[in-house]
Amino acid sequence: KRVAIVGCPFSGGQPRPGVDQGPIHLIEAGLPRQLEELGWEVHFDGHHQFEDISASIASDPPIGKLKNPRTVSKVCEAVAKVVGKHAREGVLPLTLGGDHSLGMGTVSGTLEQYPDACVVWVDAHADINTVETTGSGNIHGMPVAFLLGLGSKIEEYAWIKPALKANRLVYIGLRDVDAGEKAILREHNIKAFSMHEVDKYGIGKVVEMALDHVNPARQLPIHLSFDVDSLDPTVAPSTGTPVRGGLTFREGHYICEAIYETGCLVALDIVEVNPSLEDAASVKQTVAIGCSLARSALGETLL
Ligand code: ARG
Ligand code: MN
Ligand code: MN
Ligand code: MN
Repeated sequence: KRVAIVGCPFSGGQPRPGVDQGPIHLIEAGLPRQLEELGWEVHFDGHHQFEDISASIASDPPIGKLKNPRTVSKVCEAVAKVVGKHAREGVLPLTLGGDHSLGMGTVSGTLEQYPDACVVWVDAHADINTVETTGSGNIHGMPVAFLLGLGSKIEEYAWIKPALKANRLVYIGLRDVDAGEKAILREHNIKAFSMHEVDKYGIGKVVEMALDHVNPARQLPIHLSFDVDSLDPTVAPSTGTPVRGGLTFREGHYICEAIYETGCLVALDIVEVNPSLEDAASVKQTVAIGCSLARSALGETLL
C-alpha cells in the first residue's frame, strides 16, 4: 500500500486568493502521518514546484473568456505527468488542491495509466462549462468539459487527450449547475445524483446507483475527485464557491468509505480548501475535514 501526496499550491483556475495554501495546511495538519497510521507507505517530497506562477499569470491575457488560460494549462499538464508517473509505478496519487481546474491534470494522469478508469466527481458544481458556455471564465468550472473533449478546441490545451467517456463519469452532490451545463449533462446523458437524489434515496443508495452506472461489476479503476464545496457550508465553510444545502459530514465521509470498500480506488483528489476564507475555527474545521475525507477514502473505518 503506497500513496504519493501531490501537493498543488495553485489558485489560477479561480479568482479568490488563498486556495493555493490549501495543500500546505492539509500537510501541516498531519495528513502524511495520519495515512501512515492507516498502514500506508507515504511518499511526500514537498509540494509541487510549478515554475513561476505569478510571472506566468502576469503575462497571460484571457483567451476568449478564459482567465489565466496558459498558466492553468501548463500547471495541469505538469500535474498530469506527476500523477501519471505515480500511477505507473503502482503508487496511489493523492492530489491536494488548489482549485478544481487541477482535475483536468489529475484525471488525465489517471487515464493514461488506466484508460478504462471511471471518475466519481463529488461537487456542488458540475465543472463542465465549455469555452462557449462559461459565464465566469474561471477554469475551475471547466475541467470536465476538457476531459470529455467538449467545446471548441484551443491550441493551448492540445496536450489533453479527451480520454474520458461520458458513460464513465458520475456526479454526486450537485446543486449549483449553470443552464448551459444542464444542457450538456442532458445532451451527453451524463449520470448525476444531485442533492435532490441524496434526499430522496439516501446516500447509501445513491453511491450504489452511482457505482452501478460507471462500474457495474466493481472491477474498473476509480478516480475520486472530491471538491469540499460538495459539503454543506456549515460543514466545510472555508471554500471559494460555497452553496447551501450540501452533503452532511457523514454523507461526505460515507462516499469515501464506500469507494474504498470497492477496492478499486486508484487516485484521489481533495480540492478547493481555502484557508484564507472565514474565521480561524472554520479554517481548522475545513482543513480537518479535508484530512478525514482522505483517511476515509484510504481505509479508515469507524470500528
Ligand atoms: N459554474 C460556475 C463557473 O463555471 C462555478 C464553478 C465552481 N467550481 C468549483 N470547482 N468550485 O464559474
Ligand atoms: Mn515520491
Ligand atoms: Mn469543483
Ligand atoms: Mn465546486
